Amino acid sequence: MKEQLHALQSEALGLIAGAGDIPALEGLRVRFLGKKGELTAILKQMGQLDPAERPVVGQLANAVSAEITEAIQVRREVLEAADLDQRLRAEQLDVTIPGAPQSMGKRHPMMKTLDETLDIFIGMGFTVAEGPEVEFAANVFDKLNTAEGHPSRDWQDTFYFDQGDKYVLRTHTSSVQIRVMERQKPPIRVVSPGRVYRKDEVDATHSPMFHQIEGLVVDKGITMADLKGTLNALVQELYGVGTKTRFRPHHFPFTEPSCEVDCQCFKCGGTGCSMCKGEGWIELLGAGMVHPNVFRNCGIDPNEYTGFAFGSGLERMTMMRFNISDLRLIFENDLRFLRQF
Ligand code: PHE
Repeated sequence: MKEQLHALQSEALGLIAGAGDIPALEGLRVRFLGKKGELTAILKQMGQLDPAERPVVGQLANAVSAEITEAIQVRREVLEAADLDQRLRAEQLDVTIPGAPQSMGKRHPMMKTLDETLDIFIGMGFTVAEGPEVEFAANVFDKLNTAEGHPSRDWQDTFYFDQGDKYVLRTHTSSVQIRVMERQKPPIRVVSPGRVYRKDEVDATHSPMFHQIEGLVVDKGITMADLKGTLNALVQELYGVGTKTRFRPHHFPFTEPSCEVDCQCFKCGGTGCSMCKGEGWIELLGAGMVHPNVFRNCGIDPNEYTGFAFGSGLERMTMMRFNISDLRLIFENDLRFLRQF
């Protein structure tokens, strides 16, 4: 049996020293030291020994077991170190290699214009209100003093839903005036940007979908002077101090008096060019004093309150702001165009 133990020891040590990885080493541990392992198998024969020999063989068996255990431990440490070493090498990171360039997104020029415009109004104490694009015809037309039969209600201009003309895609953001005045009592100072829809063919100045920004101020003693002062402040901030404005009489059903506001052409400074079609002025927005009927329709007493409103096309404002000659460029998302801003 002693020879058996010695043979087992030298075989085990040889194999352990040559084990190539942790699973192989674990296999050897089970094979030699496990409950059904080779060492246990030898010890089971102890009974056949001469009683005097048993302690000697027992001691030898313990020594062999201890040595194999020790050898496995030593080999395990070597293998683990090698493993770590290899992983460190494989996962090495060279922080000096230049990174793959990430292309940075940018704000769309119209969103820049919108952000600037909102900043200007917020600076003047306005808050931002929003309304739905699918809107009651009542909010787009009726409550804005635009009676049945008014040309802007024509199905040729307005997208109706197939529900007895009750719903439309809003044709202007003025519908938000109604929503604000119905739920909030004066004083009111809001701006409301958003998409609007009209049945227009696409060309250099038209699109069936475009954006407006609406403004509404209601309080005691608001006059046309407040309207002019506010819109002049907007123009000076957006297009530069000294930019001249012109207020022309106009008609809207929901304001009285009404006006259109032009801005001196940013390109030629007023002498006349292709941008302003020789006029020297560019139309900027529609505005006016809130019509008493609109107040009444929203439960506000026109004898107590007055107010002004305006609505401006965001695409138009953007084209003026950045000297863009064709509306379609704003929607086409051509990166060669957008990267310029
Ligand atoms: N809603 C008008 C339009 O779309 C603009 C406007 C708004 C005019 C508010 C007066 C007051 O043309």
